[in-house]
Amino acid sequence: MTTSILAQQLRKAQHVVIFTGAGASAESGIPTFRDLLTGLWERFDPAQLATIEAFRADASLCWGWYEWRRQKAGQAQPNGAHLAIAEIAKHMPRLTVVTQNVDDLHERAGSRDVIHLHGSLHSPCCIDCGQPYTLPLTSDALPEDGSRIEPPRCNTCSGYVRPGVVWFGEMLPENAWRAGLAAAEECDVFLSIGTSGIVYPAAELPLRALGHGATVVHINPVRFEISGQEHFLQGPASVMMQSLLREAFGEHPDPQ
Ligand code: OAD
Repeated sequence: MTTSILAQQLRKAQHVVIFTGAGASAESGIPTFRDLLTGLWERFDPAQLATIEAFRADASLCWGWYEWRRQKAGQAQPNGAHLAIAEIAKHMPRLTVVTQNVDDLHERAGSRDVIHLHGSLHSPCCIDCGQPYTLPLTSDALPEDGSRIEPPRCNTCSGYVRPGVVWFGEMLPENAWRAGLAAAEECDVFLSIGTSGIVYPAAELPLRALGHGATVVHINPVRFEISGQEHFLQGPASVMMQSLLREAFGEHPDPQ
């Protein structure tokens, strides 16, 4: 597979799914989870930070870490991949963005109706009653290595407010999962960008798309094993997506 062959397929496609992981936001300065040295799970222990038990055991440690991540995501800008995806959508009868990312960079690049399989850093809610909680971004610079911050309390039941992300051991938001699955099963081209593809059930989506006859293409700077029916384009997300946009539709948005 080359970007020009994929570009031809995009021009003919009726429905494209763009499925993104942390690698799609890496060039915006948001760390991935599993890249050696820089990945969050190389430096922090998910069992201490990304489970309901961790939050119940030390809510301030957990909340402080997610506030640091929320601030970092809020300060980041969409990169060339986010911008190219939003631009490609304008040329397609239908394009669905399904992301595992908890930032809002797709939306800020102009993508609409983004399906967030793993929730969002920007939608905290009460841990007890589920009531959404509106929270402005703090302007104080938060230290990376775990400043404890007491979580706010719910206006309705006084329970702790928790980050709006899916933690290990939790179900995906039902509507998001159902919509992601339906899109994967209906599309004719499925692009999986910047994900290690090891966290289920999200990682099932490329397989579902393949099983329903879609062309499945993985875009990643690091090659990994795929089945004989899938395709691989090696390179960083922004470079690959901008080439694809240019080759398919002759445009080139400026990365910010
Ligand atoms: P990972 O950190 O597991 O994988 C990131 C992928 O991005 C790797 O395959 C990298 O090679 C690739 N990558 C790095 N830089 C890139 C670039 N510039 N362009 C394209 N790709 C690049 O992140 P995810 O696959 O997103 O879950 O991880 C899946 C889930 O595991 C996350 O949503 C999170 C985590 O635990 C929850 O928080 C529930």
